[in-house]
Amino acid sequence: MKRENILVEALPYIRNLHGSKIVVKCGGHAIVNEESMENIIKDIVLLRYIGVETILVHGGGPEISRVMNELGIKPQIVDGLRVTDERTMEVVRMVLIGNVGTELVSKIGSYGGKGIGLSGKDGRLFTAKKKGKKKVVVEDVEKEIDLGYVGEIESVDPEMIDVVSSKGYIPVISPIAVDEEGRSLNVNADTVAGEIAISIGAKKLMMMTNVDGVMRDPEDKETIFSKMTPEYAEDLKKEGVIEGGMIPKVDSCVRAVEGGVEKTHIINGEKPHSLLLELFTDEGVGTMIHKG
Ligand SMILES: Nc1ncnc2c1ncn2[C@@H]1O[C@H](COP(=O)(O)OP(=O)(O)OP(=O)(O)O)[C@@H](O)[C@H]1O
Ligand SMILES: [Mg+2]
Repeated sequence: MKRENILVEALPYIRNLHGSKIVVKCGGHAIVNEESMENIIKDIVLLRYIGVETILVHGGGPEISRVMNELGIKPQIVDGLRVTDERTMEVVRMVLIGNVGTELVSKIGSYGGKGIGLSGKDGRLFTAKKKGKKKVVVEDVEKEIDLGYVGEIESVDPEMIDVVSSKGYIPVISPIAVDEEGRSLNVNADTVAGEIAISIGAKKLMMMTNVDGVMRDPEDKETIFSKMTPEYAEDLKKEGVIEGGMIPKVDSCVRAVEGGVEKTHIINGEKPHSLLLELFTDEGVGTMIHKG
């Protein structure tokens, strides 16, 4: 397609999104890679410039595991949730807020945007309570695992986001919640993104991950589902097609859709500018979860 046509094709999409809010969740794998991280940040800054209030929620799984391994702590993840003892919680907080969050904020700045780092603790943006034990099946045997300092979101107060976003800042949210006693709890970033999208009345929730979308066979890109309803997503979970880190992602999309978010998308953050392609062209990429 001619360059001018690409720009013209974007016009109705830009019109439709102007003045609305979008939550972008950026997975740990997608940001470990410097190049894909920079591409995502450029897209987000561009979105903000064309009048889309963009809120970034980030993960950091691989970076947390890397630092844990360096410190001699063995990472353990069940169904996409990290088992978090006290030392792990310290590492999670250090890496997510101190390292990944500030890096994203500074990258936004270097592309001309205004980033601001927030976590659940800031203005009590989101609070959580301990999730407790989780039933898992290991080699056909059911076991109960104590997840430790893993939180389940209890409340979201989006005032802090409104305050900064209305002034043109791009909030960069680290998925660390605060509990009643002021302790830090580790919350899956997909869940945080979903709850925030609902609470601010976001039009879209974009999950940027390290695969093209939800696939019947993750080894075979041809088996990608371009769209699905919440009901179908539940069926795929029961069948065991959706597993591991894809579970909290799909769950959050389903909750968001049921909570009023128009469309949710799971897309590959490692593909250059997949965010812009999904939002501003006729060509849909990834998996869209939406009401039937
Ligand atoms: N049906 C499926 N289709 C595609 N991927 C799947 C499926 N089932 C499970 N997965 C796994 O889900 C993973 C994505 O979730 P994961 O939690 O690892 O990444 P993320 O959420 O982007 O990063 P982070 O957890 O660091 O924020 C994929 O890499 C893939 O291995
Ligand atoms: Mg994940």
